[in-house]
Amino acid sequence: MIHLFKHETKEETPKGGMLLRVEHVSVAFDHPVLRDVSIHVAHGETLAILGKSGTGKSVLLKLIVGLLDPDKGKIFYKDKDVTNLKEEALMELRTQIGFLFQGSALFDSMTVGQNLDFFLSKHTELEPDAREKKIVEALDMVQLGRAIDKLPSELSGGMRKRAGLARSIVLEPELILYDEPTTGLDPLTASSIAELILEMQSRLGIASIVVTHDLPTAFTVADRAVVLNEGYAVFEGRLEDLHDSSDEFLREYVGASHLDRARREKLLATKQWAQGLQHKTVAPPI
Ligand SMILES: Nc1ncnc2c1ncn2[C@@H]1O[C@H](COP(=O)(O)OP(=O)(O)O)[C@@H](O)[C@H]1O
Ligand SMILES: [Mg+2]
Repeated sequence: MIHLFKHETKEETPKGGMLLRVEHVSVAFDHPVLRDVSIHVAHGETLAILGKSGTGKSVLLKLIVGLLDPDKGKIFYKDKDVTNLKEEALMELRTQIGFLFQGSALFDSMTVGQNLDFFLSKHTELEPDAREKKIVEALDMVQLGRAIDKLPSELSGGMRKRAGLARSIVLEPELILYDEPTTGLDPLTASSIAELILEMQSRLGIASIVVTHDLPTAFTVADRAVVLNEGYAVFEGRLEDLHDSSDEFLREYVGASHLDRARREKLLATKQWAQGLQHKTVAPPI
């Protein structure tokens, strides 16, 4: 089923128990980028945001953490109206929402451990011992414990993503925003990162928004997806239903991803495997 949010009324946006609600948001720079877009994320849920390059996916994530302001519309994180927060409250919000930026955004001159420590010092009052404990835990979670003293330049692309992810989870957020977490990685590394995202959800119960133009990644990590096209949310629903869409743009988009039934079934099997981990402490086969 196709949902054109621009035609939906406010009452149709689910309200109860939502962690995040983006309501009728529009943004234009020199041209309209997002047009009346609404999305919602429940506690512990993973939502994929799909769409071609330049359709406003990164802009949408930046709006959620208040790095950009919408021209119209509202964004609620729990009960807070993000569009009305002062800088201090925004800083506090950013301790609750992890953000894995497209380029990992690590400081090149600092080791992985120092990068995490810089972030923790900036956002918390924790003593050095307590910070170190959190850093070690976060790096272990992404299986990067041995890279604590390495510089970003000494890491592979996949390891840099993991280091960025460790920084995003070190403050134990309830929501993580992933901007193209698998872009630029080879397929094997990409799928290991996708599995790691799943684990964040299964083991820690963290809700996520995963922005990607990679359908296999979306299938691995998410149940529900929103597709952006020319600034509009042209689809909102289960990923499986993307394939049955009668919308020409969506059919072309899905067709171009070369995601056949066999591959989809394999990805779903992986997802079930990771979901079965639920709070266990065994290492995944990455
Ligand atoms: N801070 C900004 N100032 C002006 N234009 C911007 C800014 N951020 C993004 N844009 C423009 O908004 C559009 C959407 O960008 P973006 O959200 O990065 O797309 P993508 O879907 O690839 O992540 C692009 O045309 C981009 O040039
Ligand atoms: Mg982007």
